[in-house]
Amino acid sequence: MSKQRVSRRQFLNYTLTGVGGFMAAGMLMPMVRFAVDPVLKSAGESDFKPTSQKVDELTAEPVRVDFKYEQKDAWYTSEVTQTAWVYKDEKGEVIALSPICKHLGCTVNWNNEDHPNQFFCPCHLGLYEKNGANVPGTPPLGPLDVYPTEVSEDGYLLLGKPQPNNLVK
Ligand code: FES
Repeated sequence: MSKQRVSRRQFLNYTLTGVGGFMAAGMLMPMVRFAVDPVLKSAGESDFKPTSQKVDELTAEPVRVDFKYEQKDAWYTSEVTQTAWVYKDEKGEVIALSPICKHLGCTVNWNNEDHPNQFFCPCHLGLYEKNGANVPGTPPLGPLDVYPTEVSEDGYLLLGKPQPNNLVK
């Protein structure tokens, strides 16, 4: 068996190549993970979150629906609470509006004493109609977002991620 001596130059080459490769892999891995993350998401994972609101109990009067779910950010899991104002329109379709004011993000309320049948934002007196349309002349410059809705097999309301309001023409 022949003994091959490793020269100082070769040793440095091997070491630097190894360390450089390790560092490059450390930088590339997050990028690759970011690129393929949607593919790795399990098919059964749904964007619709369950609520405790029975759909057949909804009326034309908006009710506040609070719902909680677990959110995972990398290794960190937290509990998120969200709210929707939910009612049925004249066709019986479920409408779920985000309560986040489009001016500076305060929370709107329905049917305040001074503003019947409207959503009212107490921060800067913003007003919205029942379909989420912002009332001209008040601070908000856009309508409230809407949640996509679904109904679970046992009749409970499921809410997706808020989207731009498609009810306001
Ligand atoms: S945050 Fe709602 S009116 Fe300003």
